[in-house]
Amino acid sequence: MKGKITMKLFGQRRGMFTMMVGILVFSLLLAACGSSNTGSTSGTTPTSGSSSAGANGKGCKKAGILLPETATSERWDHKDRPLLIADITKALGAVPFFNNAQGSATTQQTQAQADLANGACILVLAPVDSIQAASIVSAAKAKGVPVISYDRLTYSADLNYYVSFDNTKVGALQGQYIADHYKSFVTANGTTNTVMIDGAQTDNNALLFSAGAHSALDPLFSSGALKKVYEKFTPGWDNATAQTEMQAALTANGNKVAVAYVANDGMANNVIAALKAVKLNGKVLVTGQDATAAGIQNILKGDQAMTVYKAITKEAQGTADLVAALSNGTDTASITNGATVAIPSSGGAAGGTKIQSVLETPVAVDKSNIQSTVLADNFVTKAQICAGLPSGTGGICP
Ligand code: BGC
Repeated sequence: MKGKITMKLFGQRRGMFTMMVGILVFSLLLAACGSSNTGSTSGTTPTSGSSSAGANGKGCKKAGILLPETATSERWDHKDRPLLIADITKALGAVPFFNNAQGSATTQQTQAQADLANGACILVLAPVDSIQAASIVSAAKAKGVPVISYDRLTYSADLNYYVSFDNTKVGALQGQYIADHYKSFVTANGTTNTVMIDGAQTDNNALLFSAGAHSALDPLFSSGALKKVYEKFTPGWDNATAQTEMQAALTANGNKVAVAYVANDGMANNVIAALKAVKLNGKVLVTGQDATAAGIQNILKGDQAMTVYKAITKEAQGTADLVAALSNGTDTASITNGATVAIPSSGGAAGGTKIQSVLETPVAVDKSNIQSTVLADNFVTKAQICAGLPSGTGGICP
């Protein structure tokens, strides 16, 4: 299944050759271009540090953080941004550049170009587009600047490190939750119809989430225990599009749906809105991811069954640890705990290159363990998740 999905991703593109030409053209453009920082939607300026650190980040004080979006998930602006800035500032003793590309791969390239021109000597890159961002890695490499791919893999054999979660496991947790809980929903709705709303096909993570979910769900589809009636990747993880997708799935099936696999909490919230419109919220098993305050609140209300908690605190800290080691020129072997195939879709030599990785473990969260996971870690607060809910909700709310 993973192979099939990855092929789909590449089927939409003109292939590796075009990509390589693109990378080359972008690198040449970079060499020729000036240094305006217009692409940054919000910028923090490094307070100090050398702009001419040696190759591979040694002595570097100026990191550049490149995040992909804000609207697709609360996490990027509320967790990743503040945590990465704080942890990297501490690691280097200087405030990093910060950029958010707001969903545009082109903007992200411009922002990377500006960071490099302004002397960034380590890049932390969460790509908008896992394929297109390879040109950023090439441009950085040309300047001896190491790149850490953050959360989302960038398809480049020149990538230096990758920090993320076990993303196939994220999807497997979502799929396994459905496998463990679908029966009562099938009985109550009198249907086995299952809808799958995946993330953006341009995000390697979305492919892994879907593959992980399928590993748990495909046996149920094969046996007929569940019937997949709809599956779509959602361009740009657009939350509103997820609502349109759910409406389409409901209409096509006469509102007969028992399960909605939804890749993250942001899209789940809109799927729930579509279900509400036909009075099916709370009756359909809906999944999510990110353990956002809104997602946990939907679980407490009974409209969403589960989410996946990813301790972004650890992800940001792992990244800052690598940044510190690069700057200090110390060994990173004690920080990394795995290796990731550089270009998963390519069977070629470059594709087989392994990127040293830090991979954290995701945790499934439902009503039963909100307290012992996201509340215990202070990832969300009671005030956030209980806002507007009756006292005693979920045995949690005051
Ligand atoms: C992240 C998810 C997030 C999604 C949409 C993925 O790459 O891993 O946590 O929900 O992007 O922003």
